[in-house]
Amino acid sequence: MLSSTLGKKLIMSLTGLFLISFLTIHLIGNLSIFSNDGGLAFNTYAAFMSTNPLIGAVSYLLYAGIVLHVLVAVILYFSNSSARPIKYKVQKAKANSSWSSRSMTLLGMLILAFILLHLKDFWWQYKHDGGYQFVDDANGNKDIYMLVVQQFKTPLALITYLGGSLALYFHLSHGFQSAFQTLGLDHKKYTPAIKAIGIAYSIIVPLCFASMPLFIYFFN
Ligand code: HEM
Repeated sequence: MLSSTLGKKLIMSLTGLFLISFLTIHLIGNLSIFSNDGGLAFNTYAAFMSTNPLIGAVSYLLYAGIVLHVLVAVILYFSNSSARPIKYKVQKAKANSSWSSRSMTLLGMLILAFILLHLKDFWWQYKHDGGYQFVDDANGNKDIYMLVVQQFKTPLALITYLGGSLALYFHLSHGFQSAFQTLGLDHKKYTPAIKAIGIAYSIIVPLCFASMPLFIYFFN
């Protein structure tokens, strides 16, 4: 699969759709931040995600999915540039494609940088004992909500999460429908529907993610 361009694009679309499904579940769980209970629901969700053995196994698939998606993107980027060593004299790309579709690699790298920072802040502390002293909440779960509030109260984290959400919006606005296109879905009725769902998804999901640090920074 890795030897042909089509095979690489297929890997990009399948891993991309898998990452989209993770993002949806992560968002739904994280929405418990808004439950106004001092973080009890959020801590219960985080504890469930890190103790359930099935989710534990799936999370290895997630890490592999992220690595594969990034690796194949980089291979595709370099094979595209070496296939066209001399740039076109007249750049028609601007007229024929959107900015986000031409900037997918850059946007992907920004999202990767965001994910690495994000993992350092939360996942590393929660699952790998990164040095933060957790206290237990009233239900006996590690109070990760307290760490989230501490982080989101800083202007730097606010800017980082707003920037990450913006990059996510642009990346998804092209990536969502492009994944289905690569899989060969070309249908009179379904293709416009997928495009519409893709546009709605790429707006709603990043907006919801951005609303969390905004809510904590301004209202907590
Ligand atoms: C802005 C709101 C967000 C909050 C409050 C949040 C919170 C958290 C927390 C507390 C963890 C560690 C605990 C756990 O694994 O359940 C985590 C893990 C993670 N987050 Fe987020 N997150 C947010 C946005 C994002 C975004 C936008 C992405 C991706 C673009 C992302 C990707 C991840 C990944 C890959 C993990 C590791 C999951 C695992 O180990 O299974 N998060 N997040």
